[in-house]
Amino acid sequence: MERKALYAGSFDPVTNGHLNIIERAAKMFDSLTVAIAVNPNKTGLFSVDERAEILREVTKHIPNVKVDKFSGLAADYVNENGFIAYIRGLRAVNDFENELQMAQMNDILFTGGTQTVLLMTDPKNSFISSSLIKEVASLGGSVDDLVPPYAAKRIKEKLSE
Ligand code: COA
Repeated sequence: MERKALYAGSFDPVTNGHLNIIERAAKMFDSLTVAIAVNPNKTGLFSVDERAEILREVTKHIPNVKVDKFSGLAADYVNENGFIAYIRGLRAVNDFENELQMAQMNDILFTGGTQTVLLMTDPKNSFISSSLIKEVASLGGSVDDLVPPYAAKRIKEKLSE
C-alpha cells in the first residue's frame, strides 16, 4: 500500500520554510501531496492556479511530490484520498497552540486513523510567513533569500503588473 502524506496550506506564496518542510516530508513517505486550500473569502496575491504553478516549478526536483488543491475541510480531502499523515510545520512556540487545536479537531474528523505529523521548521526560516514576504516585497524590500528563486521572480512580476 502506498504511504501517502498531505501538506496543506495557502502557499501565497510558497517560501523557503515551506520548501524545507516539503523536502523533508517527501523523504518520509512514498508520496507527498502539497495541496492549496481554496478559501473563497480570501483574495491572495496569486490566484490558486498561479500558486499551484509556482509550487510545481519549485518542487520539480522532488519526484514524489504532487501539487493539488481542495475546497472545504482538509479532513474531508484527507479522508477521500487515504492520506496516512497530515504534515504541519511548527515554527515557534506561538504556532503550537493553534496546531494542537487543529490536530485535536482533525483527529475527530479523520475517519481512517490519519496522524498529524508536526515537523520543526529549520531555525533559519522560523520568522518567515507568506504575509511578511508580501509586505516586504510590496514595499520594495528584497525577499530573494527567503523564497525559492522562481517564486521571487514571480513575486517581482506580479508586483510590477
Ligand atoms: N515556513 C514558513 N512559513 C510558514 C511555515 C513554514 N514552515 N509554516 C507556515 N508558514 C506560514 C504560512 O505561509 C502562513 O502565512 P500567512 O498566514 O501569512 O499566509 C502562516 O504561516 C500560517 O500557516 P498555516 O497555518 O499553514 O496557514 P495556511 O493559511 O497556509 O493554511 C490551512 C491553513 C489551509 C491548512 C487550514 O486553514 C485548513 O485546514 N483549512 C481548510 C479548512 C479546515 O479544514 N478547517 C478546519 C481545520 S481543523
